[in-house]
Amino acid sequence: MADILYDFGAGRSDPETFPKEALKEAAVRVIEREAEELTKYPGGLGHAGMRQAMARREAEREGVSVDPDHMILCNGSMQAVTLTAEALQEQRGDTVIVEEYSYPGTLSAYRSIGYDMVGVRLDEGGMRMDHLEETLERLSNEKRLPKFIYAISTYQNPTGFVMPKARRLEMIELARRYGVPIVEDNCYADVHYDGPIEPAIYALDDDPNHIYLCSLSKILAPGLRLGYILAKPPMLERFLARRNDAGSNTLAAAIVAEFYKDGIGAHAEVSNALLKEKRDLTLEMLDTHLADICVWSKPVGGLFIWVRMPDDVDRKKLYEDAQANGVNFLPGTAFHYQNRNKPFLRLAFGHLTKAQISEGLPVLARCLQAARGSNEPRTFEGLFE
Ligand SMILES: Cc1ncc(COP(=O)(O)O)c(C=O)c1O
Repeated sequence: MADILYDFGAGRSDPETFPKEALKEAAVRVIEREAEELTKYPGGLGHAGMRQAMARREAEREGVSVDPDHMILCNGSMQAVTLTAEALQEQRGDTVIVEEYSYPGTLSAYRSIGYDMVGVRLDEGGMRMDHLEETLERLSNEKRLPKFIYAISTYQNPTGFVMPKARRLEMIELARRYGVPIVEDNCYADVHYDGPIEPAIYALDDDPNHIYLCSLSKILAPGLRLGYILAKPPMLERFLARRNDAGSNTLAAAIVAEFYKDGIGAHAEVSNALLKEKRDLTLEMLDTHLADICVWSKPVGGLFIWVRMPDDVDRKKLYEDAQANGVNFLPGTAFHYQNRNKPFLRLAFGHLTKAQISEGLPVLARCLQAARGSNEPRTFEGLFE
């Protein structure tokens, strides 16, 4: 197998903006200052300073006050996803609503925990409310209302789209009408490039059943394994009762809290500026090399571009040829809630160098042309039917 030279697969931020020196200095300070804390177990909620820093992060972005005592630090937001699903499940086979295309980590966790996933269609504004309503009504009639609705409403993975505020309000109303909690996964929220910032769902509705998940992986680095859940009692207690890991890493939390003691704005500004250049370059390369046969999303934040290709592309051949030529990407199948083979692929642009983006995309474009049954231009205009 050829070496992967152009890895458009993994959703990571830019390694160049990882603040090595500042984190080193923060580590020295916290080990001196908080040595005693490090000799103890962290407890269910986790490091208080980190919870305060993240409550501030949320409050500054959303303009609402956030109680650090309603926050549970986790081992990345993936643990938050899993813990939520376990805590809300009553029995295997319970239903959960997800976006038709969603984050593969979540889909595979829900599968292994034993949820029956029901997909709701997407468009440029995220989950479609007409289809959500129809789905909730059908599930209600079948007496299998979902335990929750899982939504990545901001810079959705894989499409990159943002749900506008009006649609969020509609979703809140539907959730209320059917008595179903919303689990909002907002791990890309601070990776913002342009356009208005849409409010998080929890900032629009104080229903104590809604749950909010966030992470440090996308704005700082996934190796830190830091994420968190916001949940109000009594929901909060349900999560704590499910937690059997003695809490999350105090050292990582303390270092990051120290690093972000004046807020996350300064670091986010630097890292987002570089990511935005890479997003622009990726879009430019797509325009140059694939405009006649593909369409794609133009995300205003997050790390992904979702590409629709013609139906006549042999997807297996495309993937194999791309790998043989050093290009990695994630096929649409990985994101479909039922793993259906659909004519899409996801490009992650965050951690590649600009040279890799401009060299790698023409290679991918050649593989795509070669995997087609024709030379005809595309016959579709949008990403969705
Ligand atoms: C929507 C979404 N949720 C959760 C995660 C998990 O991130 P982490 O566990 O690193 O915080 C990811 C990672 O790609 C993601 O895209």
